[in-house]
Amino acid sequence: MEQKLRIGLIGLGQRGMATLRRYAVVDNAEITAIADLSADNTERALVTLKQQGHDSISVYQGESRWRNLCKDGNVDIVYICTDWASHARMAIFAMNNGKDVAIEVPAAMTVDECWALVDTTEQTGRRCTMLENCCYDTFHLGIMEMKRKGMFGDICHCEGAYIHDLRSDNGWVSYTVADHAGNPYPTHGLGPACQLLDIHHGDRLESLVSMSAPNKVNNTLIKTALGRTILIQFDERTPRPYSRLQTLCGTKGYAQKYPLPTIQIDGQTTLSGAEAEAYVHNQHNDDTRALVKRGNELGVENLMNYIMDYRLVHNLIKGKQPDISIYDAALWSCITELSARSVILGSKPVDIPDFTCGRWK
Ligand SMILES: NC(=O)c1ccc[n+]([C@@H]2O[C@H](COP(=O)([O-])OP(=O)(O)OC[C@H]3O[C@@H](n4cnc5c(N)ncnc54)[C@H](O)[C@@H]3O)[C@@H](O)[C@H]2O)c1
Repeated sequence: MEQKLRIGLIGLGQRGMATLRRYAVVDNAEITAIADLSADNTERALVTLKQQGHDSISVYQGESRWRNLCKDGNVDIVYICTDWASHARMAIFAMNNGKDVAIEVPAAMTVDECWALVDTTEQTGRRCTMLENCCYDTFHLGIMEMKRKGMFGDICHCEGAYIHDLRSDNGWVSYTVADHAGNPYPTHGLGPACQLLDIHHGDRLESLVSMSAPNKVNNTLIKTALGRTILIQFDERTPRPYSRLQTLCGTKGYAQKYPLPTIQIDGQTTLSGAEAEAYVHNQHNDDTRALVKRGNELGVENLMNYIMDYRLVHNLIKGKQPDISIYDAALWSCITELSARSVILGSKPVDIPDFTCGRWK
């Protein structure tokens, strides 16, 4: 029988419960331990896991009991689905107790926490990744293949965003957004953009300027060492329709996912809407094609989450590094503090640290 990845899940709120349900159909993985502040939440999660056929789950309920989960000998990876402020602290403790770690987005809220995650990962030799599901969006995966084939020429500019009208929702984003001057949630837009620009594989993010309009609409412009640019937007307080932009400009081609999927390749292709989407999906490599097929057969709710979950488990079980490195996780997350810093300074440029210490070249 193939080895199973044993997951200890901390945080059984909205995302944690969704994660627990998602993992019911992920091969070679099982949730062996759960932790939450609330007894209602652990009880609810336990019922769901029992319905899935699991009977020996360790349950850690209470303020600091997550520490015991991190020491549980029946856990290989600590999967962190708690509020933003606790992510880095929990991940560092888990690695120091010999566990691999996967952290929901953003991995950390300050530059210091980002450095601490990088340092602990290097010192412990554990694997630490961030669960940036938008890097597994099926449109993005097709665009990445087109980029690898050189279909866009040299990519000089990318745009990404988290634009989601959450005014009627007292839910998860709003609770710390109110106090944040910049973009508290940059990674859904930034992760895919950095992959398209080969950040940490020949280029790096060097500096940013950021502006916030009333209602917390934030625009952050990032410059890379090679002089390329990224626009990242955040807006959860206006009626603007949902968008992550997913836009790229190259010397030979253009692509966007939102608001209308569009592909423009010089002298060859001009497509929009369902035709553009079908064209991009047709570019998938064999691995993605197989995962999309399998996800559809299983009837999963959201293919990008399924592909992310599958790849995390597959990489870890095979002894490989996760797709998203700790350097990526730290870089994409540090924009939370740095965008706020630029806004507070009247939109002055702010340097972005090189978490790879020169290895990006
Ligand atoms: N990738 C995505 O698309 C996506 C979507 C939704 C949420 N998220 C992320 O998931 C994370 C959780 O979001 P949510 O909406 O589930 O929040 P939530 O508030 O619903 O749940 C957080 C849970 O963490 C628990 N918790 C807090 N401190 C704890 C502690 N010390 N010990 C044990 N449990 C503790 C709380 O009791 C709560 O149940 C956030 O980081 C969020 O950004 C990501």
